[in-house]
Amino acid sequence: MESNAEKNRYIAGKVIHGEGRGKKIGFPTANIDFTDWHYQTGVYGVRVYVNDACHYGVMNIGVKPTFHKNASKNVEIHIIKFNENIYGKQIEVEVIFKVRDEQKFNSVHELIRQIKKDIAFTKHKFHQMGMNRKELS
Ligand SMILES: Cc1cc2nc3c(=O)[nH]c(=O)nc-3n(C[C@H](O)[C@H](O)[C@H](O)COP(=O)(O)O)c2cc1C
Repeated sequence: MESNAEKNRYIAGKVIHGEGRGKKIGFPTANIDFTDWHYQTGVYGVRVYVNDACHYGVMNIGVKPTFHKNASKNVEIHIIKFNENIYGKQIEVEVIFKVRDEQKFNSVHELIRQIKKDIAFTKHKFHQMGMNRKELS
């Protein structure tokens, strides 16, 4: 039987506008127009291929329970050390490891604190895996 494992590690889609909250809370995210739900909700360490370059990022697949009761599932990525406008661009995301489950936080402040930890953990893990590229430090 042919394995789909390799193929399923990739998510590709167009970058669309989110609710615009990410920038305000200090973590701009690329929201992706993606509806093939192979992945469970959660936070993941990812590699992002955009404009022919490889970057690192932290992806949340989820329903943002801190802000919504009944939102549909959504994919968004904070790309580390990245500050380009990529709305409308097609990007490819390679899922490398899971960081944690998505949680409902009691305040935006707590969510921000956790996302900072997620980014630190993800950088550390990529370093451990031998990925010491300038996009990480
Ligand atoms: C690394 C990362 C982890 C996240 N974890 C959670 C989470 O555990 N719970 C949650 O409600 N939202 C989580 N979010 C989603 C944020 O709520 C979301 O990025 C923010 O509301 C901005 O969304 P917007 O770009 O659609 O405005 C996470 C986002 C990122 C980038």
